[in-house]
Amino acid sequence: MFARRIVVVGTGYVGLTTGACLASLGHRVVCADINAEKIARLREGFVPILEPGLPELVAEGQAAGRLSFVVGAATAFAEDFSPEVVFLCVPTPMGPDGAADLSAVEHVAREVRDLLPPGCVIVHKSTVPVGTNARTGALLGRPDVPVVSNPEFLREGSAVHDFLNPDRIVVGSEAQDAAERVAALYSRLGAPTLLTDSASAELVKYAANCFLAMKLSYVNALAELCERLGADVHEVTDGMGHDRRIGQAFLAPGPGWGGSCLPKDTSALLRMSEGAGFDFPLLAACVQANDHTRDRMVDKIRSAAGGSLASARIGLLGLTFKAGTDDLRDSPALRVAEALLAEGAELTAYDPACPEPVAGFTDGISVEDDPLLCAKDADAIVVLTEWPQFRSLDWPALARAAARPVVVDTRNLLDPEVVRRAGLAWVGVGRS
Ligand code: UGA
Repeated sequence: MFARRIVVVGTGYVGLTTGACLASLGHRVVCADINAEKIARLREGFVPILEPGLPELVAEGQAAGRLSFVVGAATAFAEDFSPEVVFLCVPTPMGPDGAADLSAVEHVAREVRDLLPPGCVIVHKSTVPVGTNARTGALLGRPDVPVVSNPEFLREGSAVHDFLNPDRIVVGSEAQDAAERVAALYSRLGAPTLLTDSASAELVKYAANCFLAMKLSYVNALAELCERLGADVHEVTDGMGHDRRIGQAFLAPGPGWGGSCLPKDTSALLRMSEGAGFDFPLLAACVQANDHTRDRMVDKIRSAAGGSLASARIGLLGLTFKAGTDDLRDSPALRVAEALLAEGAELTAYDPACPEPVAGFTDGISVEDDPLLCAKDADAIVVLTEWPQFRSLDWPALARAAARPVVVDTRNLLDPEVVRRAGLAWVGVGRS
């Protein structure tokens, strides 16, 4: 394998993981970000996100002289570095119309277009709509700079593991030679590698995330049906999951799916389909079903609290969008919390990864660093994130602290028998 000179623009979950992992594979990587404070802290070895293994890789890369951090994309193009590959890992959030907002990608492309050495390859790593390779190529106006799509499939909380043990590497471009050069960056990983055209690679990422979202909406709908028919959703999904065509993964019901990717990608694919004149009712229904799941959880909490949420004291266990991350973006837990607040509930929350209030996310919620304080005088205790440590809380103490001893377990995380023995009623999802 050739060690390449690589620039990674953007040091969020995707960019920082990509930079640190590529350095660990032997490449020389310069990571750039516009946030000067973040870069200063990264240089000191402080990794601002909860991602197992990442601080160690960042430290190793820096110590070996293979990984460095600079402020601003342009700074990465120092004369003595001359990158061969530039990864764009800047955010592509949901815009006001539901489509992906590409302004950060375009901004970086404009910033670097005159700095790119001839033959350097531009790689879209962030999730970008079909057509973005062509659009970036036109914006660069550099026929000597090929553009490649190489989507990431990293789950937050296991991003380093996923990067170094990929199920597949997808590289799409009309420039075959550039695509092969990008694929070769990962050759040490020995993963199945798929070389495709640009549009297909761009679509693979949306197709995969939207399929996962549909799997979850299906399971959440099944959970509701199980409640009506007297079945147990876990018995049902276990029975389904043994079929190797279906698999056991991604079959756990919950308060709805969320996070920084699935909601924005389902919305963006719907917009893309609309733009292509294609009606995609299956995907639209999957998104609607997710809103319905949230409403259903609110109904369960309202009933558990005695029929009204006005001035009800609700203790929330979990705020992050899933366990193992400190990310609050588009968290289903916060969507449930917002709906509870709208009905006049008073919320106290505990989350092991979010010990303090976070402006713009936990507004209106009293965030405590002790789960017992969530239970104090509560009309209902609600499990919203599947942190395993919630299983071994002092449930008898929580039961004594609560005004109304009931737990709504939106993740079916707890052992109902343990909770019941502690003196609380247990309300789960798709099982009784
Ligand atoms: C997701 C995809 O899983 C990654 O493959 C993809 O690379 C990433 O988006 C991305 O586009 O960057 P992530 O956002 O980290 O990863 O979250 P997931 O682990 O997929 O979970 C998404 C949501 O589904 C969470 O709210 C989670 O709690 C929920 N979920 C997941 C369930 O409710 N049940 C399950 O069985 C699994």
